[in-house]
Amino acid sequence: MSTILDGKRLVLGTCYYPEHWPETMWREDLQRMLASGIEVIRIAEFAWNKTEPEEGVFTYDFFDRFLDLCDEAGMKVIFGTPTATPPAWLTERYPEVLNVDVEGNTYRHGARRHYNYNAPVYRYLTERIVTKLGEHYGQRKCIIGWQIDNELNCETDQFHSEADSAAFRLFLRDKYGTLDALNTAWGTVFWNQTYTNWDEVHVPRKTISNSTNPHEVLDYTRFVSASARSFCKLQSDILRKFIKPGDFITTNGMFASLDNHQMTRESLDYYTYDSYPNFAYCLDAYNPDDRDLRDRRWSRNLIQVRSISPEFGIMEQQSGANGWNTRMEAPTPRPGQMTLWTMQSIAHGADYVSYFRWRTATMGTEIYWHGILDYSGRENRRLRELKDIHAKLAKLAPVAGQKYRAKVALVKDYDNEWDAALDKWHDRVNWASESALFEASQRTHTPLDFVFIDHADDAQLAGYDVLFYPHATIMTAERADMLRRYVEQGGTLVFGCRTAYKDITGQCVMDKLPGLVADLTAADIPEYSFIAPDAGKVTVDWNGTELEATVFADLVEPTGDGVREATYTSDYYAGSGALVSHAVGKGKAYYYGSAFNAASARVFLEKLGVAKPFGGDLELPETCELAVRGKYAFVLNYKKEPATVCVKRPMRELLSGETLQGEISVPGYGALVLEL
Ligand code: GAL
Repeated sequence: MSTILDGKRLVLGTCYYPEHWPETMWREDLQRMLASGIEVIRIAEFAWNKTEPEEGVFTYDFFDRFLDLCDEAGMKVIFGTPTATPPAWLTERYPEVLNVDVEGNTYRHGARRHYNYNAPVYRYLTERIVTKLGEHYGQRKCIIGWQIDNELNCETDQFHSEADSAAFRLFLRDKYGTLDALNTAWGTVFWNQTYTNWDEVHVPRKTISNSTNPHEVLDYTRFVSASARSFCKLQSDILRKFIKPGDFITTNGMFASLDNHQMTRESLDYYTYDSYPNFAYCLDAYNPDDRDLRDRRWSRNLIQVRSISPEFGIMEQQSGANGWNTRMEAPTPRPGQMTLWTMQSIAHGADYVSYFRWRTATMGTEIYWHGILDYSGRENRRLRELKDIHAKLAKLAPVAGQKYRAKVALVKDYDNEWDAALDKWHDRVNWASESALFEASQRTHTPLDFVFIDHADDAQLAGYDVLFYPHATIMTAERADMLRRYVEQGGTLVFGCRTAYKDITGQCVMDKLPGLVADLTAADIPEYSFIAPDAGKVTVDWNGTELEATVFADLVEPTGDGVREATYTSDYYAGSGALVSHAVGKGKAYYYGSAFNAASARVFLEKLGVAKPFGGDLELPETCELAVRGKYAFVLNYKKEPATVCVKRPMRELLSGETLQGEISVPGYGALVLEL
């Protein structure tokens, strides 16, 4: 059992950069952290030169001196491998290590993450530095865990170097065996793209209209994911040889084109996430019409993190303003927001929360990315807030180890996630429905999970009363069977438009739609279209309840013992079926012919009887989130104004220690943690 996720208490940490400060400050910094409730620090993830200042020359004194102080002070340490920032000596000598953009321009030294995962020499130098670090620091008493690299696929998830093309060819040879099979899978007969020699195959390059063969791009995304995973595994396999029993291996962040579930399963003890909800208030990205969800939207990321790694921590939690000197200008979190965002992470399952960063950098790109302390390190409001959070978390110890409770889940998978990233038709419906289902679940206080079907089993699906799989554009026979079993055993499954019209290569199937789930849904789709921009409001009648169709309309008719549940009532769709249900075994499958908006998603939650599962105990305004871990209900107020919550029976509240009942005022950015 690891030291920070032991299921017994909630632990605080921070990110510290000993290389940014005079050594004379280290001891006092550690003491101040400990006195403020920080028990763990993450260090070293960008400091390659401190261990290998020139090629093949290894020095350990710097971190030895620092770790001696940590041992002495009783500070626990997560040690980062430094591969996100290859040194200047390295990239100068081995330029093939550098990443290249789609136009063939090389990313040079000067920022970070300027390397590619596939250059053999980078993999060799990575192996060597990680081995040296493991050998030297692996048995250090104060070290409790290791972080691999920093935010894999952050900054960019696009890799176009020669090393990537070479590795892509190997990936494809392994996957397809022959060029004929590759040509078939990529449909290269279209526009005469047929390959006649493996050397003609490259990672996507600059093309006319930036439109590369979509089946190739889908495989390329799978390849990028496999490359990042293998880079992570290379490091974790080495670290495993050196770390102490009980020490853990993790990596942080959650970025695109990466199967984080698979990576976690094969290389990590658990996953950690970097949560920066203040992005919602960046000056250049602020959306006044964000229907109030703003920083609350980070709960959606936390839902995804929980699906990747049921036990997880936050490696970087926002504690100050955002800002690189070149972008992302944002205000300092208001009093209480740092607490609120910490509670948000905990409410969704984090038992470890580590703030980015202890003191704000005085140099470099991130001089405006504020930590707990400003440049001077003087006592400030955010440090006081940290101390207060620490006191609060002691009262929340019973929450540690408790699992989030949801009876409704959104089903996802990486094939569709990546297909949507390259396919506009898919992306439009996907984006609309995911946002809508999240928003509706938030507003109705219906706890929601995500389930990645490509990493789930029957038992996991069976834990939910209702599954929404809104746009499984790509469907496989195996997944269709799994979904059928879920329904047969009593589950309710809702598909949205555009289901099952592609196979695993991303090519369209010639079956009648919805292809592989036509039997399960007893649905037939003779016609479909985007909703025309001049169509106005396209309405649907579901037994007297009006829904508005969004983005797309499949005209959907029942077959066999399918039942038409709802009908389009406007435009040329009027009179055609919009929703078909099919009772199968003990459960029911639904096919809804459109994408969801927040209102229609809400109607589905309500009609399917899963909205507001805790409504008998708690009445909350929509502006508050409800999240439930085990027997503890978190009520989070994202507004600066107080909110009134109605507690309908006496309940113990952990933060105040009081038993509450009736109308309770939750302060702006405040939280209640109620025992159900
Ligand atoms: C994270 C990253 C940190 C720091 C922070 C602020 O994405 O892991 O190293 O850069 O953002 O920009």
